[in-house]
Amino acid sequence: MKKVLVIHGPNLNLLGKREPQIYGKTTLTQINQSLKKLARKNKLKLFIKQSNHEGEIVDLIGKTKNKYDGILINPAAYTHTSVAIRDAILAAGVLTVEVHLSNIYSREEFRHKSLISPVAKGTILGFGPKSYLLGLEALLDLMNVQ
Ligand code: DQA
Repeated sequence: MKKVLVIHGPNLNLLGKREPQIYGKTTLTQINQSLKKLARKNKLKLFIKQSNHEGEIVDLIGKTKNKYDGILINPAAYTHTSVAIRDAILAAGVLTVEVHLSNIYSREEFRHKSLISPVAKGTILGFGPKSYLLGLEALLDLMNVQ
């Protein structure tokens, strides 16, 4: 059974209440439920974590080496600032897909740069909660051909 770690970065625990005009009304629990449903359908083992702490995310990624087949990550605000998370992904060498609810390129300029995209296999953004499902589907495809 393939194993995927889903990481939700800072403030994503507030989804549903947080800036709904940008992030929508879907809660993190609802997103996780739809991810679990897709995982069950595909006989995939899913582990899901949310953290507001950069170091904790670095530790989580570090533990995936030789243990997980894929990482699905929304690094949230750390997307734009975290060399540490980028380096952790490189060090782990685990297939990583980056997702975002919003289209970061249609927002403030400081969000236009992702330090994570260059080290991810690919990035899916702008489709709200659907970005997560599309990201997991991409990972499933990639893991099956490996
Ligand atoms: C986000 C986009 C980031 O710029 C922002 O800091 C977030 C969420 C998204 O999913 O659209 O917290 O990653």
